[in-house]
Amino acid sequence: MNKVKVGIVGLGRQGIDQARNIAFRIPNAELMAVNSIIKEEVQEVQQNWGIPYGYTDYNEMLANEELDAIVIISPSPEHCWQIEAALDAGFHVFSEKPLGVSMEECKIAERAVERNEDKVFMLGFMRRYDPSYAYAKQRIQEGSIGKPILVRATSIDPESTIEGAIRFAATSGGLFLDMTVHDIDLARWFLESDVKSLYATGGCYLHEEFEQYGDGDNVAALMHFENGTMAMFHSGRNAPHGYHVETEIVGTHGTLRIGSVPQENQVMIFDNHGARQECVNGFQERFEEAYRLELQEFIDCILEERKPDVSVYDGTKSTEVAYAATESFRENKLMTFKKEVSQSNE
Ligand code: NAI
Repeated sequence: MNKVKVGIVGLGRQGIDQARNIAFRIPNAELMAVNSIIKEEVQEVQQNWGIPYGYTDYNEMLANEELDAIVIISPSPEHCWQIEAALDAGFHVFSEKPLGVSMEECKIAERAVERNEDKVFMLGFMRRYDPSYAYAKQRIQEGSIGKPILVRATSIDPESTIEGAIRFAATSGGLFLDMTVHDIDLARWFLESDVKSLYATGGCYLHEEFEQYGDGDNVAALMHFENGTMAMFHSGRNAPHGYHVETEIVGTHGTLRIGSVPQENQVMIFDNHGARQECVNGFQERFEEAYRLELQEFIDCILEERKPDVSVYDGTKSTEVAYAATESFRENKLMTFKKEVSQSNE
């Protein structure tokens, strides 16, 4: 196989960008099929880009034997059944985060991955592929900050996209599952441990529309990890200045900070507002390169017959933690995780 032939499901906000990456920016991939329940989206992409196959029914796409891989960028509640169906039909699968919107769904996806272990499965935690986060991980592995003991993470969508966020709230799974889940995955990755206990809080401080979904427009959580390390999270929907993603990893001998000012470029503007820098306005802009690189990794894994760094278990763990954080926020209680008991007699 020289090129991996890909079918994509979902051509919305995120799907159209990833379809473009597969079609035009990943040399060893070919976008052969597109699927959305919205017929016009399918027709438009097929006509504009000359894509041979278009479907409004997901299962019909899975019957196409010319395809090698399925990329899932549909709404979060669709992920797990689509993952299971695609793996069982013999395809390699990439799925957007979060893995699922319930633990039962995540376990279904886990079992499908386990019974199709000759297939590549990758979950879209793209921040791990962002060059700055990848560099931070490399520095930590080289020991340059000593032992990492604390991750402090901020992720805030811009106020300018608030209408979309409110529309999306019914299917997003809530702020912890939709947004903090990226930070939870990063904290697990940097601290090399799992969450032992957590407490979360938050509220609707500016946009009460989120309340009907049991969601907040700003939430925060404090977590304690099994290896004794810590993490602090703040996620929100209303940054006035742009898309603010900032991560700090504090070690015993130094600190790494990524994205303190979400600057759009290197230009400093000195004018009657003071001295300032313009900021990026959305995830598409900030993580453009990471989205391409994660899909490139998925395709390379298929061609080189190896497994990616982000597994289905990372998806389950981060979903479990995001769920516990949501429950803690809603019910004002401390959550603790039981360590999984090994089945062996060791
Ligand atoms: P969207 O609502 O803009 O688009 C959803 C697309 O899926 C539409 O084309 C819709 O017609 C299609 N669709 C819905 N149900 C379907 C079904 N049963 N079969 C086939 N097609 C179906 O959603 P958006 O914002 O593009 O999000 C999609 C996923 O991507 C979500 O899970 C979201 O969490 C994730 N996402 C991840 C980001 C990241 O930073 N990694 C950023 C944005 C979204």
